Amino acid sequence: MSPGSLDAHDAAVARERWASLSRAEAAARVVALVPELRRHNHLYHVLGTPQVDDRAFDLMLAELIALEGRFPDLQVEDSPSTRVGGAPLDSLVAFPHRVPMLSLGNAFDAKDLRNFETKRHEESGRITGGIRQFLARAGTEIEGSIAYMVEPKLDGLAIELVYEEGRLTGAGTRGDGQVGEEVTHTMRTVGSVPLRLRAPFPPYLSVRGEVLFALAGFHEMNQRREAEGEAPFKNPRNAAAGTVRQLDPGPASRRPLIFFAHSAGEGIGLEVASAHSMLLDELRRMGFRVAENTARCEGIEAAIAHVARIGELRAALPYEIDGAVVKVDDFGLQEVLGFVTRSPRWATAYKYPAPRARTRLLGVDFGVGRTGVVTPVAKVSPTEVGGVTVSSITLHNERHLAYPHGEYKEGGQKVSRGIPGAPLRVGDLLEIYRAGDVIPRVGAALDEPGRGGRTPVAYSAHCPVCDTALIREATPAADKKKGDEHADPHPNDTIRCPNQLGCRAQLEAGLRHFASRLAMDIEGLGEKLVTQLVDAGLVTRFSDLYDLDVGAVAGLERMAEKSAENLLLALEQSKAQPLARAIHALGIPLVGEATARDLAQHFGGLDAMMGADVEGLCQVGGIGMEVAQRLVAFFGDPRAIEELARLRALGVQFRCEEPTEVAGADLVGKNFVLTGTLPTLTRSEAKARVLAQGGKVVGSVSAKTDYLVAGEAAGSKLTRAQDLGIEIIDEATLLAMLGDR
Ligand code: IVH
Repeated sequence: MSPGSLDAHDAAVARERWASLSRAEAAARVVALVPELRRHNHLYHVLGTPQVDDRAFDLMLAELIALEGRFPDLQVEDSPSTRVGGAPLDSLVAFPHRVPMLSLGNAFDAKDLRNFETKRHEESGRITGGIRQFLARAGTEIEGSIAYMVEPKLDGLAIELVYEEGRLTGAGTRGDGQVGEEVTHTMRTVGSVPLRLRAPFPPYLSVRGEVLFALAGFHEMNQRREAEGEAPFKNPRNAAAGTVRQLDPGPASRRPLIFFAHSAGEGIGLEVASAHSMLLDELRRMGFRVAENTARCEGIEAAIAHVARIGELRAALPYEIDGAVVKVDDFGLQEVLGFVTRSPRWATAYKYPAPRARTRLLGVDFGVGRTGVVTPVAKVSPTEVGGVTVSSITLHNERHLAYPHGEYKEGGQKVSRGIPGAPLRVGDLLEIYRAGDVIPRVGAALDEPGRGGRTPVAYSAHCPVCDTALIREATPAADKKKGDEHADPHPNDTIRCPNQLGCRAQLEAGLRHFASRLAMDIEGLGEKLVTQLVDAGLVTRFSDLYDLDVGAVAGLERMAEKSAENLLLALEQSKAQPLARAIHALGIPLVGEATARDLAQHFGGLDAMMGADVEGLCQVGGIGMEVAQRLVAFFGDPRAIEELARLRALGVQFRCEEPTEVAGADLVGKNFVLTGTLPTLTRSEAKARVLAQGGKVVGSVSAKTDYLVAGEAAGSKLTRAQDLGIEIIDEATLLAMLGDR
């Protein structure tokens, strides 16, 4: 509730009444209003049993805000009025967790849940797991049934709330489990987050839970956004995360977020709760909302039945869940069971199967990216999957498109690759799903009469845009170890249009990159203008930009003389960009911003760089054989040599900078993704260090990713980063960027 249901008249009348109160009268009102508002807030947001309507609540809140406005010293620190919002922050700061926030192992069917309790002997007499066996080995054999708590697995953003002396003093996201981001300013606006605990409470308490979007409110908000021309949120989870992580607490205070508590980090001892079920009761008593439909179940079969029950209720719940969590109830047993790496052995998350749907393959388009990578995109007849309409599905690489499904070894691990029923054929009946409930994927092409007569889809031998013969590049990933008989017979190759300087798709994408903020930073040269310039035949290579004149640019549609002049000015200014940026701007495959900076620092000038051979290039910290070969190929290409000469002739300076130490501050605003095992740093150390220097670490690779830090046994993230042309660095490069040379 926010003071939103008052009409202007009500508010004006009320304001006048409050304006006439003396200080003493106002103080008495504040003392009465604060607990009353807290009580109604709890009734509405936590218990779901409001005793007053929105308008009555809003009037009380408006009165409190008005009185506190007149007499600011009357405002208590955790006044209900502080939920309304506040000033935006400049940035989110790191939020270290005193006790790590862990993740959960997964179960996908009843058998997995039975194995969670008692794993059958699978390998010649070797017992591989199961909590019963573990307990027996630890000397705590359980004769009878084990009691479990079964709870919905809430599909939101994991949050820790910290209370000191009963007051909310901090809230942070999970981050990597060790360090998250502080979001107290937004979380305090969430109605179901108590600002003050109900006594008795421990002096220090950390509570873990999930913040979620109420579904009805989510759909309403998205409709409103679309009506106002704003991009809708993809799903309620993203919307919750996007709202809570905003610097401005305003949107969080207006949107229907719910916080559910599901565990505690510190503060609740065995004397208060000796089992998880008791902990949940204790959390409820202190004022938290705990998910409905939790049940204490005697024995794994009862737990399995309740997991199924939650599954049946799922569709009707007013918020999203993506599974059920099964936890050993008794804290004594939890203690004995402990943890396997970063997940408790005493709990597991049952994941309901991703929603699937069937649709027809209408055709496959082949897109050409900036670095020439050709990516197949399946066009399907629009179909709803898990609440979202899907009409195109990126297939990522040839293996998805053309090779049958199979299990292969990659970096020592077994992985499933390909699509059952591949090669795909136009007209195929496809089973599709959304991976992680977000990204649409093809699950399988289903067999049906007549399928054999359809034509399989294949990469053409030529670029769909410029008709140049495509080339196949083997991926140098760790998954191709010699002599490994399990190695994938269908290598994860990249199909590329090699016509970097002549292909229109690459030209446009390349120009956009050339002009982008971290490259030549040419203000005003956006996507549309790039297309117009190429359409008009004014630009066929980067250097043409510097040969433009005001007349030609002003002659383009929707361009006035003034904007043409501004563009020319921005172009002029960009000529002085330092060497590192200019190299980055060229979009040489595998040469991103950090590599460009390393090169510029090492060589100090363009000519030295161009003259270097593979060996010389490999001397540069952070540059490996692959990148070195790409650079030699690029600088040896006569068209590149001519283009660089022309850029210089037109005034681009490739300006040398004094070599400087790479400062950590360079990480500000950069997005990192970590994958594989790094030689010396753990993931959380790497993450903490990136965060400490202003960078961000995110879980998955997207177009927004600046660097992929790849270690041993890197898998699909590496492939995706390569597909997207994202700069891939190793630990040594990361350390150098962090100033650890
Ligand atoms: S208990 C040791 N209970 O799932 C971990 N977690 O992989 C204890 N989650 O993001 C977590 N609903 O926030 C627990 N009822 C529930 C949950 C739940 C959702 C989230 C949790 C974390 C992830 C754990």
